[in-house]
Amino acid sequence: MKILVTGTAGFIGFHLAKKLLERGDEVIGIDNINDYYDINLKYGRLKELGIDPTKIEENQPVASSIFPKHTFIKLDLADKDQMEALFKKEQFDAVCNLAAQAGVRFSLENPHAYIESNIQGFMNILEGCRENGINNLSYASSSSVYGLNKEQPFKTTDQVDRPISIYAATKKSNELMAHTYSHLFGISTTGLRFFTVYGPWGRPDMAPMLFADAILHGRAIKVFNQGDMSRDFTYIDDIVDGCIKVIDHPNEKDLYQIYNIGNNAPVQLMDFIKALENSLGKEAKKEYLPMQPGDVKSTYADVSGLMNDFGYKPDTSIQEGVDKFAQWYRAFYHI
Ligand SMILES: NC(=O)c1ccc[n+]([C@@H]2O[C@H](COP(=O)([O-])OP(=O)(O)OC[C@H]3O[C@@H](n4cnc5c(N)ncnc54)[C@H](O)[C@@H]3O)[C@@H](O)[C@H]2O)c1
Repeated sequence: MKILVTGTAGFIGFHLAKKLLERGDEVIGIDNINDYYDINLKYGRLKELGIDPTKIEENQPVASSIFPKHTFIKLDLADKDQMEALFKKEQFDAVCNLAAQAGVRFSLENPHAYIESNIQGFMNILEGCRENGINNLSYASSSSVYGLNKEQPFKTTDQVDRPISIYAATKKSNELMAHTYSHLFGISTTGLRFFTVYGPWGRPDMAPMLFADAILHGRAIKVFNQGDMSRDFTYIDDIVDGCIKVIDHPNEKDLYQIYNIGNNAPVQLMDFIKALENSLGKEAKKEYLPMQPGDVKSTYADVSGLMNDFGYKPDTSIQEGVDKFAQWYRAFYHI
């Protein structure tokens, strides 16, 4: 299959592209390599895919030195003309849109970045699919669409029309836009609501990386809501597994689908910290702080949709996943 994966310099996009390439798919990866976080980490991921950072130029394809069926293009999703040209030239069989301005906290100060990448960018993806008869679109949504919903686990049948950050509002908007295109143009669209993804090559703005960095440098970690929080931490391999199941089987009858993709086993924040302390062999200094605006106390995914339709079963325990993450972290940062 020839697949467009967006956001391949990012955490999840990188892992998905690698897995697809390893099994023999053709992958065109795009990313604008923005500086929301350290771009050296993004270049590091691209190198693992055989892309030489010194060869990257705006809108120019770069061939991989490792995977013969991989090409990377530095391209902005929001660039309508370039996106139109890409779709027309490549005639993809499937598209998985993972590029986005991510992060709840950053959206409080930088709302426009989210509208540009997540709304305008997604519009270009939808139009590319429509114009070129692509009938297999999957895209990243987020557990943040559940906002302040109290009832747990979160189900895809729950009402989600009260987002509490612009980030969440853009993710919910993507689902609405996808619904419109499924309805009007018969495109199979699948939104995946990811729940707190962690693992090697993770995001430096998220708790596992922030914690590992602070612990190993002897700084205090910031523990919000005095530690009274839980997250359905989901290991990256389990996320990639779910994405691939969806890419391989676009819906034929009900064209518009939304799934939760999580570990289905929430972990108390303090237990996650303990697992990380075990893996790193060092106790964390802790600074207890109040809840952050835009943040939620707990998340817990009902994944029965993916289980029933695709036999999805996340199987990485927290300690196993955290061990793999910590091992990568020490190797990558030489610490
Ligand atoms: N990691 C998580 O826990 C999590 C949870 C819920 C949802 N998500 C969603 O999953 C997707 C992937 O997240 P991630 O953790 O890999 O984030 P990430 O920031 O590591 O990756 C996103 C990539 O998209 C790229 N990008 C941003 N705007 C772009 C644009 N306009 N054009 C081209 N590229 C652009 C960035 O440079 C980045 O490399 C995102 O849509 C995110 O919102 C992630």
